[in-house]
Amino acid sequence: MRYTSFLISLLVVSGSLPLVGCGGGGGSTPAVEDVPVDEPTPPETPTPPAPPSQLDLQLAPLLTNANAGTPPTPPSHPQALVNLGKALFFDKILSGNRNMSCATCHHPTAGTGDDLSVSIGEGGSGTGAARVLGSGNLIPRNAPALFNRGLPNVTRMFWDSRVSIGGPQGTTLNTPEPALNGPSPAAGDIASQLTSALAAQAIFPLTSHAEMRGDAGENEIADAADNLEVWRLLVARLVGTNNGTEGGIAAYRTLVQQAYPRIVDFDDVNIGHVGRAIGAYEDQAFRALNSPFDEYMAGALDAITDQAKRGAQLFYSRADCHRCHGGPLLSDDRHHAIAVPQVGPGRDFAGEDTGRFAVTGNPNDLYEFRTPSLRNIALTGPYMHDGAYTSLAAVVRHYDNPIRSLFNYDPLQLAPLLQGTYDEDVSRNQARADALSGILRPAPNLSNQDVADLVAFLESLTDPASVDLSGEVPAAVPSGLAVSD
Ligand code: HEC
Ligand code: HEC
Repeated sequence: MRYTSFLISLLVVSGSLPLVGCGGGGGSTPAVEDVPVDEPTPPETPTPPAPPSQLDLQLAPLLTNANAGTPPTPPSHPQALVNLGKALFFDKILSGNRNMSCATCHHPTAGTGDDLSVSIGEGGSGTGAARVLGSGNLIPRNAPALFNRGLPNVTRMFWDSRVSIGGPQGTTLNTPEPALNGPSPAAGDIASQLTSALAAQAIFPLTSHAEMRGDAGENEIADAADNLEVWRLLVARLVGTNNGTEGGIAAYRTLVQQAYPRIVDFDDVNIGHVGRAIGAYEDQAFRALNSPFDEYMAGALDAITDQAKRGAQLFYSRADCHRCHGGPLLSDDRHHAIAVPQVGPGRDFAGEDTGRFAVTGNPNDLYEFRTPSLRNIALTGPYMHDGAYTSLAAVVRHYDNPIRSLFNYDPLQLAPLLQGTYDEDVSRNQARADALSGILRPAPNLSNQDVADLVAFLESLTDPASVDLSGEVPAAVPSGLAVSD
C-alpha cells in the first residue's frame, strides 16, 4: 500500500531531521544542508515540497490505525468482454418492455446513480433528477453508485447484501435465486460464469417487475414462470435460438463471440455470460482510486486543504467515523443500524424497511444496512438506503445526534413527490432508535465548523476522473433502441 511509504517518510522527516524545507517525498531528495552554498540552484529545480505540518504529523498515525490507503488497481478485463458489457449496460433490450436499461438508474452523468432519493422504475420516463414517475413504479431504495464495486475484495451487493459471493474458494453464491446458491448449484452453468458479486448482482434487476421486467400481462418476460425462464427469454432476445438461426440480434452474436471465443453454439450462452460481461464493464469503467486524498496519502501533502485535513482528523478520531468507514474503501463492508429516517414507499411494507433483518430474520440485524464506501461520495447524493438526506452536511449532522435527527426529520428536504412518505409512526421510529449501533459515538458534539471540515474531507475523496463520465454513454446500442430516455 502506497500509504506506508508516506508514513515512513513523515516519521523520518519529523524524527531525524529539523523541519527545514525537506519534503516527505522519499529518500532521493538531498537534505537542504547537503547542498553546497556556492553552487547556484538550477532554475528548473522544483520548489521542495512543504514540510509536514503539525496536522499532517497528527493525521499520519490515525490513518495507519484505520488501515486507510489506496487499493492496488486490479488488472484490466479483456476488452471484448468490456465491450459486450457496455452494450448490455446501456441497452433497453434487457427490460421486459424495452424501456429501461441499467443506465436508467445508474447513469454516468448522475454519478452512476440517478440523483433521486429513491429510484423511479418501470413506467417512469426521463433520466436523473428529471425523471418523472407518471404511472410508473417507485422503488423502495436509493440506487447506489457503482464506483469500485468490482474490486477483488468487494463481495456483497445491495444495501442488505442479499447477493454475495464467498465460501472456501470465494466462488459460492448466496442470492435470492436458490438455483444459483451453494457449492453445487442446480443452475451450475449460470453460476459458474458469475465470478464476482458484481457479476451476480447484474442478473437480478432483470427479474424485478418494478425495475426492468414490467408488470404482469405487459410482455412475455413479465409473464415468465420463474427467474430462470426470465433469463432464458432474455438471452434468446439477444442471441436467438437454434444456435442463433431464429431471432436474436446479429450484432450481439458478434459481440458474444468476441467476448467468449470458446462458445461454438449460441444455445450455450446463458444469463451468466450476460452478468459477467456487465460486471466487467462496471468494474472497468467505474474505478475511482485516484482522489486528492490518495495523492495526500502518497506524500503530496498539499493535495488537500488544511480544512480537509482537520475533517480527516475528526473522521479518524473524535467523530469515530473510521470505526465503520475504515480501510481503503472507507467501509467495513458490515451492516449497522444508524437510525436513518424512513422515506419512500418502504420495502417490507408501506413505511417500513428493516434492511438486513428482512434477509436473515435475525433480530440482531433489525434496521441494519451495509456501510457504503465513501469514495466519490460528493458525486453520489442523495444519501442513505432511502436517500433521506440530500446533502453531505445533512448526513454529517445526523451523526451529531442520530435519534434526534430521526424524530425531528424535516421531509421538506425531499422532492415533493416523497414529502408525504416520511414514516412518522412513533413505535416504528422507537424501534429504529432502539436498534442504534453501540459503535456510534453517543455525542460527538460536532460544531458547525466541524461539520464543514468533515464535508471538506469527504469532498477530497472525489476522483477527478469520475466528475464527467458523459463520454461513457454510447451513441447507439446493438438493439437499435434509443439510448436516452
Ligand atoms: C429502476 C432503477 C434501477 C435499474 C433499472 C437498475 N438498478 Fe441497480 N440498483 C437500483 C437500486 C434501487 C438498488 C439498491 C437496491 C437494494 O439495495 O435493495 C440497486 C443496486 C445495484 C447494485 C448494488 C450496488 C451496491 O453497492 O450494493 C449494482 C451493482 C447495480 N444496482 C447494478 C445494476 C445493473 C448492472 C443494472 C442493469 C442490469 C441495474 N442495476 C438496473 C436501481 C436500479
Ligand atoms: C456504526 C457504523 C458507522 C459509523 C460510526 C459511521 N457510519 Fe456512516 N454509514 C454507516 C451506515 C450503515 C450507513 C448507511 C445507512 C443507511 O443507509 O441506512 C452510512 C452512511 C453514511 C453516508 C452516506 C453514504 C451513501 O452512499 O449514502 C455518509 C456520507 C457517511 N455515512 C459518513 C459518515 C461520517 C462522516 C461518520 C462520522 C461522523 C460516519 N459515517 C460514521 C455506518 C456508520
